Amino acid sequence: MSPSMIALVVEEENKKYQRGVKHLCDNGLTKVPTKYIWPETDRPIFTKPDKLIKPKQNLKLPIIDIAELLGPNRSHVLRTIAEACENYGFFQVVNHGMVGDVSRNMIEVCKKFFELPYEERSKYMTSDMSAPVRYGTSFNQSKDNVFCWRDFLKLSAHPLPDYFPYWPSSPSDFRSLAAIYAKETKEMFDLMVKAILESLEIDGEGDKAAEELKEGSQLVVVNCYPPCPQPELTLGMPPHSDYGFVTLLLQDDVEGLQIMYRDEWVTVDPIPGSFVVNVGDHLEIFSNGRYKSVLHRVLVNSTKPRISVASLHSFPLTSVVKPSPKLTDKHNPPQYMDTDFATFLQYISSREPKWKNFLESRKIHHIR
Ligand code: OGA
Ligand code: NI
Repeated sequence: MSPSMIALVVEEENKKYQRGVKHLCDNGLTKVPTKYIWPETDRPIFTKPDKLIKPKQNLKLPIIDIAELLGPNRSHVLRTIAEACENYGFFQVVNHGMVGDVSRNMIEVCKKFFELPYEERSKYMTSDMSAPVRYGTSFNQSKDNVFCWRDFLKLSAHPLPDYFPYWPSSPSDFRSLAAIYAKETKEMFDLMVKAILESLEIDGEGDKAAEELKEGSQLVVVNCYPPCPQPELTLGMPPHSDYGFVTLLLQDDVEGLQIMYRDEWVTVDPIPGSFVVNVGDHLEIFSNGRYKSVLHRVLVNSTKPRISVASLHSFPLTSVVKPSPKLTDKHNPPQYMDTDFATFLQYISSREPKWKNFLESRKIHHIR
């Protein structure tokens, strides 16, 4: 084949992958296409070059019982939150008040959405990062060299009336169920913010950041990971940190989420009905580095499809993200530059998502 012919074939192949993993799998697949094969050192079983992970126990994240948080043991629970945010960047919440039906219905209706014919789903495919609804595949499908084994649906969700009319109208109960889910996760976030600020010894009452977060942004990201014939060659999501303040993640009962803990990838044990909460880049900045947004990634498996719903919450898009003035002084200067949220989004949409390169670029290196 001539070079121009080869280029044509590659272009055709790439078009196929733009339609997503679900579409690829629906057409039958026994091997992972090269497009999805990650370099050996990034694959699931490797931590460092040539260092195989021994089969390990799953990680049990610190558990926060919301009922207890709201009772007489609050100060003890706040300390557990602080320790979890410092040592893991992650914790799980139980007794959070969202009834099982709301989360189960959300997972079910999302499953149904991904089972719609490709033509229906692809109505929402767009490269416009500011679109209120965005269907897509991989991490950044116009930039990624190697693709991830993941399709997604992203819904802007706060304030809800601004976005609701743009959400998918099929399946017929999608909008109403997703709206209940989005509203209740926002309430859970508001509760978490109060607790997190208190754990940093910030009085949320009248605090500018606290007020902004109440009217902040919310993005609901539904992730669909179809079964993969060779899960050892690929990733559902590459290592990344979440850009927002806090993410509330609902998983079905299939494991897959791994976090970087003590320099190793460890799988998080899913607790049915719980939420995984993680510190985002904006909270790391806001806490002046006391709380850490920790790298995480997703593995896929050969038998079970997996659905997760991540709700990313942060400041309004017009806000400036910076260390809280209540946590900095002469002796403890800001460790991060002020960053407007829009710059943040621009950056992450234009670069490889890997690692925490944006946060690194905002760090101030004090000379002592
Ligand atoms: C995310 C994410 C983890 C998962 O959506 O940012 O990290 O388990 N998801 O799907
Ligand atoms: Ni994430």
